[in-house]
Amino acid sequence: MNRTPATAADVLGVPLLPPGPLTALGNRIRGVLGRLHGAMAPPPARILEGLFGMLEHRVLVALCQAGVPEALTGPMAVPPLARRLGADPVRLERLLRHAATNGWVRLDRHGRVRPTRLTAFLRSDHPGGWRAWVEFAGGQEIVAAVGALSVDAEPTDTFAAVNGAPFFDWMAQHPDRWSTFDRAMGAGGRMHALTLAAALDWSEDRRVCDVGGGTGELLSTLLDLVPSLEGTLLDLPEVVARAVPHPRLQTRGGDAFAHVPGGFDTYLLVNVLHDWDDAHTVRILTRVARATGSSGRVVVVESGYTAVPRDTLAVSADLLMATLTSGGRERGTEEFIELGHAAGLRHERVVRLASGDLAHVFHPAER
Ligand SMILES: C[S@@+](CC[C@H](N)C(=O)[O-])C[C@H]1O[C@@H](n2cnc3c(N)ncnc32)[C@H](O)[C@@H]1O
Repeated sequence: MNRTPATAADVLGVPLLPPGPLTALGNRIRGVLGRLHGAMAPPPARILEGLFGMLEHRVLVALCQAGVPEALTGPMAVPPLARRLGADPVRLERLLRHAATNGWVRLDRHGRVRPTRLTAFLRSDHPGGWRAWVEFAGGQEIVAAVGALSVDAEPTDTFAAVNGAPFFDWMAQHPDRWSTFDRAMGAGGRMHALTLAAALDWSEDRRVCDVGGGTGELLSTLLDLVPSLEGTLLDLPEVVARAVPHPRLQTRGGDAFAHVPGGFDTYLLVNVLHDWDDAHTVRILTRVARATGSSGRVVVVESGYTAVPRDTLAVSADLLMATLTSGGRERGTEEFIELGHAAGLRHERVVRLASGDLAHVFHPAER
């Protein structure tokens, strides 16, 4: 079996993975420029821009649903593009004009549409796989749940109130949507594998367990990058049944709240704890701490939480958790130290990854 190794160009659109602190600096600069951009507009323009933000999501989803990224292989006038897509040329042009303001495509002065590097990333055959995120976030169940977000104390589970069941139960009832969700997680997984392979020392490790590892894109990519490793994927049985094959990857279908297998050098929890409230988080971490025994490490990767909201992706991830889960959220380092302590883990350090996410490294408390 030939696997094409994931590259920084494929998953992040950069020739080389930057050091984590450089990504953080870049995000800070983007934040400053964004605030400057905002401060230059009069308040009514800001209000309208904020409200019209809902169109950004729709335009992106609609253009992907129409197949624009695949059809736009080079500069094209709108009418032939519309013919290729079977679309209405006037409507298509209006959506493309909006898309061009965001860089999804470019419109030149002759009225031709041109692909940009973002268009390439949106193609369904792009090796980064990020198109799956458009398909996941464009789902009616997600749009409806986001539309119900409010400051009310009830319901505590917005997704369940709107869609009739908590997120993972609903997904189990809708296998097509669940596999779309898995594919979206897989895109992030490949990125996380690249950043984790670069940021952590794997030389002492032989066996790694990815807890809540989805269909194993992260683990398979990590195994490609660190050939001395063997991996075990732990996720719900229905999810591991769809796992990607890899000669050094084993799967374990099960409930991480009930059992986490022992004997691994590293346990990964990537974007898993932010799905759960503190009580559930301590339960999973306790299972992992017991499985870790007296040696090994536990690596928790999430966007993070800072008192002053700076990173727009991290803040959005937190709000998405508020929408999709009951009590899930992004957490800061102090909270991870406390939750780890409650589960029998000692927080050793936090490593900033090239993606901008944070890796919290824990060890068994008594070591
Ligand atoms: C947000 S996804 C993260 C997936 C993957 N770690 C990544 O970063 O791409 C959370 C994962 O937790 C899994 N999960 C949910 N409940 C679980 C449980 N009780 N036991 C094991 N895995 C569970 C889901 O199936 C899903 O794959």
